[in-house]
Amino acid sequence: MYDLAKLLHLVSAIVWMGGMTFMLFALRPAALALLEPQPRARLMGAVWQRFFRLVLVAVVVLFATGSHLYTTAFKAAKAATGVGSVPLGWNLMLGLGLLMMLAFGHIYFAGFAKFRRAVAAAEWPQAAQAAGQIHKLVVLNFVLGWLAIASVRLVH
Ligand code: HEM
Repeated sequence: MYDLAKLLHLVSAIVWMGGMTFMLFALRPAALALLEPQPRARLMGAVWQRFFRLVLVAVVVLFATGSHLYTTAFKAAKAATGVGSVPLGWNLMLGLGLLMMLAFGHIYFAGFAKFRRAVAAAEWPQAAQAAGQIHKLVVLNFVLGWLAIASVRLVH
């Protein structure tokens, strides 16, 4: 069970981190270089709609599997030594992971909702502002995600 949970945890992390890498380093710069603001907003809206749904699933799976990994090891340590403890890096992953989930909630339920309303109403300056907010939070999650992964590997 532990191994299956860890595999699903990794798959979800790869989907989320890989999607952000593609968006930040390939899709966004190419769309900025080649498309006018309106078709660019429509493209990014259609891309985000698909990608953010995947991230919603990834967030649920990461949280469920991460909690399972964490509590299983915590209980095993308690049974073996009388003290429940996990490596510091795991606590960092828990904290950074929760922050990422909050930031994603903000992206999806605030920024993206605002972006969609603005595009539907053809209010392009507001759409650009919401897109800027989404971009900043995606950069934040990209950095937090790598910090979380580095913590769990390097901090003991
Ligand atoms: C709050 C939610 C989270 C919790 C409770 C959590 C918990 C954990 C734990 C306990 C491990 C260590 C498992 C082991 O070494 O046997 C782990 C590994 C890992 N986590 Fe998370 N995690 C969370 C969120 C995330 C997020 C948001 C990402 C990245 C997007 C992520 C990516 C990874 C990766 C890549 C590993 C594997 C590292 C390795 O190969 O050892 N986790 N997680």
